[in-house]
Amino acid sequence: MSGFSARLAFGAAFAGVLMGSFMAKAQTPPQPSGGDAPRYGFGTTPSPAELSRFHAIPPDGRGLPSGSGTYVRGQAVYAQQCVKCHGAKLEGWGKGMMMPPEHAAMGDGRLIGGRGSLRTANPVFTVESYWPYATTLWDYIKRTMPTTAPGSLSDSDVYALVAYLLGEANIIEKSAVVNEQTLLTVAMPNREGFIDGARPQPEPTGTVQTSPTRPSGQSQPGTTMGR
Ligand code: HEC
Repeated sequence: MSGFSARLAFGAAFAGVLMGSFMAKAQTPPQPSGGDAPRYGFGTTPSPAELSRFHAIPPDGRGLPSGSGTYVRGQAVYAQQCVKCHGAKLEGWGKGMMMPPEHAAMGDGRLIGGRGSLRTANPVFTVESYWPYATTLWDYIKRTMPTTAPGSLSDSDVYALVAYLLGEANIIEKSAVVNEQTLLTVAMPNREGFIDGARPQPEPTGTVQTSPTRPSGQSQPGTTMGR
């Protein structure tokens, strides 16, 4: 009992330091022994495949798996896996489509179009008009789509879907083969539409300072992208 309460106090002291509420549950942190990582006695080592479900592919494409796909294959996969939510013309979800109600509030699902509209009064944000990196498109589809079965698409089918989307957006030739190398050479139309700029930094006084380089009255495309 005395050991328990001593550890409780120890844990509570740590909780404040680490800002982690779970530390308050009376656990002494495991101590590394002899330079080894601490061992907790449960769980298994995740495989690279399991880890890859959680690791985003960065813009430079590091970690892209091998595989390849074409517009034609992508069109077929799209018709099976994507059309019911994103529309036959990639125009997004409209009336009568099978979009679950909880998704209806998430933009309009439109994937192409809107090029050149970002600095107008009615900007249209799509992969074509907005996304700066094709590698992000591969990564996003692979990890999140279709929303009903994220991670279920093969790597090559994701390359094929990218070929289809970018082909429809006239960003690449419809005859292009997209693989882990050619994907890196895709020049997205809005690639240069972003500026380096600090996000608003909260000041200790509670005031907010915005980046002096951000164009006034425009939040897009003068922001860094969170995707
Ligand atoms: C069940 C409906 C559903 C299906 C099927 C689906 N999506 Fe989506 N998709 C969504 C929703 C909802 C979002 C918006 C998610 C968000 O904003 O967090 C989205 C967003 C996207 C985006 C990002 C668009 C943007 O500009 O933010 C892409 C790209 C995309 N989907 C591609 C696909 C592809 C490719 C497929 C087929 C493999 C697919 N989706 C299948 C519902 C779906």
